[in-house]
Amino acid sequence: MNNNEQFEAEKGRKKRKEMTRRQFLSYTLGGTTAFLMAGPILPMVRFAVDPLLKKEEAGEHVKVVEVSKITTEPQEFKFKVKQVDGWYESEAELIAWISKDDKGEVFALSPVCKHLGCTIFWNTKGLNEYDCPCHDARYSKDGKNITVSRLPLDEYDVKIDNGYVYLGKIKPNTRMK
Ligand code: FES
Repeated sequence: MNNNEQFEAEKGRKKRKEMTRRQFLSYTLGGTTAFLMAGPILPMVRFAVDPLLKKEEAGEHVKVVEVSKITTEPQEFKFKVKQVDGWYESEAELIAWISKDDKGEVFALSPVCKHLGCTIFWNTKGLNEYDCPCHDARYSKDGKNITVSRLPLDEYDVKIDNGYVYLGKIKPNTRMK
């Protein structure tokens, strides 16, 4: 290869590496457009997936009543919890039947009958049991199913803090051993 041929080959290689004006313009315009579009689109994407990004507020308990008010006789207490369903937030009123057991431990039962979901009440028949008005299911003070229902009443997760009873999530009855 003579000098002239070498020069032409080198020139060709350099030419291939250089960016053309058309390429430069399309990269610049493409980058600017993507940058400008990201401004309005990113917040929309963020809003669309926001409930999925939020961590579940696990273990959140609600203050319900002073411990001093709890007796061995079950009492009905109403309390409010914040509910989040996707983007919709609301407040729901819940009911718990709270009492102390023989050891003085506070526990709280759900009022939802495990037969078909009616609301149970304490001692409406003078038997010291929970009764369901719908199909006569009966439960012991611990929530143990005595008649009709095949399952015991559910329990709330209970926390005692600074003289108050706090209730958390509903869980299967742990008092049936
Ligand atoms: S729903 Fe309570 S007994 Fe049927």
